[in-house]
Amino acid sequence: MDNRPIGFFDSGLGGLTSIPILNSRLPNERVIYFGDTARTPYGSKSPETIREFAVEIVDYLVSQDVKMIVIACNTVTAMALDLLRERYPDIPILGVIEPTARRVCEDGGRSVGIIGTKVTINSGVYERHIKAIDSSIRTYSLACPAFVPLIEEGIIDNDIMDLTIRYYMDDFVAHNDFDRLILGCTHYPMIASNIMRLYPELVLYNSSAEVIEEAADVLRDRDLLAGPNDGADRYYASDLSDNFLKMTNKLLEGKSARIEVRRIGE
Ligand code: DGL
Repeated sequence: MDNRPIGFFDSGLGGLTSIPILNSRLPNERVIYFGDTARTPYGSKSPETIREFAVEIVDYLVSQDVKMIVIACNTVTAMALDLLRERYPDIPILGVIEPTARRVCEDGGRSVGIIGTKVTINSGVYERHIKAIDSSIRTYSLACPAFVPLIEEGIIDNDIMDLTIRYYMDDFVAHNDFDRLILGCTHYPMIASNIMRLYPELVLYNSSAEVIEEAADVLRDRDLLAGPNDGADRYYASDLSDNFLKMTNKLLEGKSARIEVRRIGE
């Protein structure tokens, strides 16, 4: 049993979409979340910059004595998972991509669409994981770089978001033959209902949720599951945007938590 917190991080508020899933799956677990809202989005930045930011955040989380780190960001997973595991070989560090790729294959997906940031899509990492499991599965991928800035601004339940989704996805869906769609960015579960309404024929896969199953397995296998405790979750943002506050408060639903600004890498 281990009551230390799990460290989660993302370029902004996207990784918060994992937290309610963690809370219902493993209610004893405590969280330290870091959203790099001052430097979001990551998804169009260079690999070197993303790796540098990721190392700064993970160094901070490790200094807070976390028992595990969840990279709640596809872009960072694509660019920095191996590097972070090499830097901290004794701490389990989970990425969101492999568990999601595995799930879609286990579900019998034969033809899979993937949407994500430019960095994630250009890396081809989802395709590599899927093809390594079954090379006959067809994959189609599309970068949707305007989604993250809109979501960070809270522009979600309205025509602007719907039009942006259609701008990127109408042709992609119409001209490719897939019936499953990976939301390959942890911000995208916040627009999952828009996507389901616009393309009801697609079955969606949520990387923010899949990684929690992986976390549960690893914690159990390493005897790191938390017992009942009254510890509080802690949420940090490098710049406390209104929307980060709104989203964290919405997710907390009465649970005790600290939400603070924390500059990093200075
Ligand atoms: N939530 C991040 C991801 O999963 C968004 C990256 C970004 O900031 O562009 O890729």
